[in-house]
Amino acid sequence: MAAVEVSAVQDPGDLEALAPIVAYAFNDNPEGSLGWLKQTPEHVRLARAGRKVVGGLLRVPMGHWFGGQRVSALGLAGVAVSATARGGGVALAMLREVFVAARREGIALSSLYPSTVALYRKAGYELAGHYCSTKLTLAECPRFRTALTLDELTEADAPEVERLYAATASERPGYLDRAPYHWERVRTHRGKPTLGVAARGANGIEGYAYLATDPAAGFPHDLKLRDFVAATQAAELRLFDFLACHRSTADHAVWYGGAADARLFVLPDKIYKVAVDSTWMLRILDVQRALEQRGYPDVERDLTLEVLDDFLSENGATFRLRVSGGHALVERTSGAGQVCLDVRALSALYTGFVSAAELSRAGLLDGSPRSLATLGLLFGGQAPALADYF
Ligand SMILES: CC(C)(COP(=O)(O)OP(=O)(O)OC[C@H]1O[C@@H](n2cnc3c(N)ncnc32)[C@H](O)[C@@H]1OP(=O)(O)O)[C@@H](O)C(=O)NCCC(=O)NCCS
Repeated sequence: MAAVEVSAVQDPGDLEALAPIVAYAFNDNPEGSLGWLKQTPEHVRLARAGRKVVGGLLRVPMGHWFGGQRVSALGLAGVAVSATARGGGVALAMLREVFVAARREGIALSSLYPSTVALYRKAGYELAGHYCSTKLTLAECPRFRTALTLDELTEADAPEVERLYAATASERPGYLDRAPYHWERVRTHRGKPTLGVAARGANGIEGYAYLATDPAAGFPHDLKLRDFVAATQAAELRLFDFLACHRSTADHAVWYGGAADARLFVLPDKIYKVAVDSTWMLRILDVQRALEQRGYPDVERDLTLEVLDDFLSENGATFRLRVSGGHALVERTSGAGQVCLDVRALSALYTGFVSAAELSRAGLLDGSPRSLATLGLLFGGQAPALADYF
């Protein structure tokens, strides 16, 4: 096969060439894949061997919240290589090009939902957080009375809804600073608008939910919540009451996010099941930026980290991390670090998915007990999660 070149879309024919590759890869129909690619053609990247399109992917510029701060990130979706070009390094060549360009743009992280972990580990990603479903049995959900009203969201509510989402997401490690791409997935389902409802108090919207409707499912069915945010306990109660009012035709309400969900504490019994539906992977594209952009506990610590990165060698170095007042100053330094780890292990540590002590036991991190304790303090805390699938 000719050398692989990666580029942005150059003419409309590019998307038509890529759509059947994406459709075949994900067992979709080409029209559906073309429609999806046409939503954000500026984010599509194509791999060509000679003049022939042999693969592609979608880049989704976004952010992840860590330690209460937004870290710039690139979500990847729809990574696909034509069936006849597989096994020749096209996917890895695409990833390398996308990483180098993202670093140039100042993007610190990349994340994705893998269909195969092996490929992405080769490119420096590691498993770094969960995407859990919570399934509430509506027949057992009590009614709740509150002073909040409940009505349908309108387009005019969008800015307030997005502010409320950001205020709660920023406190949840891993959650997205959503791009329009993600909001579109919240507000539409299979091309049709989802039903948005708001729990309103005297000062405005305190909580909201978006429900995907699917007439093909008939009834009884499960209510699929594309988003469920409650900033106050009154909003939680109002939205649970709203869900309970569906119990004659819906068996369950299902929503996504982390495994530990304090909203459930208002329920009188364990009338729900939480399951890990997927595990996402993270790639640290720029160690210095990633460490500087996230937030930390308000402690004073100084540590050197030696990061090995054989896929993106410009990213591997020894870094001095000085944390103070919830922020870090990071600089490159020379020599061995107090802690040595591969960039993949750093991903799992960075999100708080796996502790330094666990990584050390697994032989994936080298450091003294004192350094491990420092890392535990800086990166530990609530388990990282995502509420969005992309
Ligand atoms: C997965 C896919 C993109 C890989 O493309 P590719 O160009 O064949 O991948 P590469 O040749 O660059 O593979 C590099 C390495 O990744 C791993 N890998 C590649 N495809 C894999 C697969 N399907 N399953 C498990 N590991 C795989 C291998 O370790 C491979 O190295 P090797 O060839 O030395 O064994 C391609 O098979 C595809 O389009 N599949 C269907 C869609 C899909 O699963 N996309 C990923 C969505 S997250």
